[in-house]
Amino acid sequence: MQRRLPDLINDMDFRVRRAPRIETEITVPGDKSISHRAVILAALSNGVCVLRGFLPSEDCLQTVTALRGMGIRIEQPEPEMLIVHGKRRLLTPPPGDIDCGNSATTMRLFTGLLAGQPFDSRLVGSSNLSRRPMDRVITPLREMGATIAAEGPNETPPLRITGSNLHGIDYHSPIASAQVKSAILLAGLFAKGKTTVHEPSLSRNHTELMLNYFLVRTVKEEDTVVSVFGDQVPESRDFTIPGDISSAAFWLVAAAVQPGGHLLVRDVGLNDTRTTLLGVLIRMGAQVREAIEEVDQIEPRGTAEITGAALKGTIIQGREIPQLIDELPILAVAGALASGTTTIRNAEELRVKESDRIAAIAHNLRAMGAQVLELNDGLEIHGRGTLRGAKVPSFGDHRIAMAFAIAGLFADGETVVQDAQCVYESYPEFATGLDAIMNPKGVRTTTPVISSLAHGRADDEG
Ligand code: S3P
Repeated sequence: MQRRLPDLINDMDFRVRRAPRIETEITVPGDKSISHRAVILAALSNGVCVLRGFLPSEDCLQTVTALRGMGIRIEQPEPEMLIVHGKRRLLTPPPGDIDCGNSATTMRLFTGLLAGQPFDSRLVGSSNLSRRPMDRVITPLREMGATIAAEGPNETPPLRITGSNLHGIDYHSPIASAQVKSAILLAGLFAKGKTTVHEPSLSRNHTELMLNYFLVRTVKEEDTVVSVFGDQVPESRDFTIPGDISSAAFWLVAAAVQPGGHLLVRDVGLNDTRTTLLGVLIRMGAQVREAIEEVDQIEPRGTAEITGAALKGTIIQGREIPQLIDELPILAVAGALASGTTTIRNAEELRVKESDRIAAIAHNLRAMGAQVLELNDGLEIHGRGTLRGAKVPSFGDHRIAMAFAIAGLFADGETVVQDAQCVYESYPEFATGLDAIMNPKGVRTTTPVISSLAHGRADDEG
């Protein structure tokens, strides 16, 4: 991967200072979740698939490398373009351990994919990934007949998978997790009969959509219940991956917290299991419009526009949580810069992400002068509208690093985010974007398009 670092990354720290008013138009790199799924289904398909807009980040490249190791030819003529030569579900035994790096999506989705193969495999990962819970996928897969031994304590990685004959199940997941749902559905493709997953509330639905796009039959009985039938071969097709709304979230919040800030994000994914962040920013007082411009390839994509304001606190909880789980660190920063209290509840999942994000957010916000109460399942943030610059750790977590770089744009003095190299997991170009926000080249004006966006949701949402 190309690593050209702007000056603001020094020894892999971000050095950030106050930003001028944001008035710009951007695109963001491809969606991470969709990139993983597109390359997996293309590999299982019956022919050549050209994937454009692929995210060439460390996490997604772990998935590519793993598939190559199982006999799938994947060319990468450009960083964001893959030519995947599908082999009709035929994977060959990997030559050694499959390294998932720091990518939980790779490990959990591959656990499902590999459980029903006619060969054995072993999944390993970084020390950080090796602490993350895998029982959430191991338990349902064992019910399907899988043989999986977790070598770490409490069912943590490495995972040793003995290829087994699987049968469909009707599984009620205790957590709303797209990784769990996806692992079971991928195993279901290689299982006998019908496999059904019930979720307590809807998590991102990219796997279901991508299966349908590759003409694999699924049944959606309700929003939270999806089934797949075994023995189907995905039909090879080309696909263009939209920009990642979770990466756009950092810039959307940067514009939202700045009265008069104005940002357009073009060509971004607007799947409604991922846009809850926009609704929350509206509640906090920002003006937001989204316009879906294309749905031909199943995943809605278009433009998101935001105009900033003096934000006020809000409560984020319940069904919203799984649909903005990756945006909670940056929303917590928005809460600290808003007036009043922002409360995040029902978000205990944050404790088992790339870091304990509840503890990490509380630590870093306090270091920057905010008043924060850490709850078991969330945070209570007493916003004061300002922050002060500080030296804060990334906790080895890409979304913590990026959220606190944005916090630094609104803090007095300098903010240093230490060990920021983790951003390569999801957003290799983040530092370039940050540099452009701090040092805009000339005056960049964007034409406000609020009045011309025909399908904006903001009117519906008040
Ligand atoms: C993802 C699902 C979410 C999310 C992660 C990516 C996916 O995790 O936090 O960044 O691609 O399925 P959970 O399924 O654990 O909620």
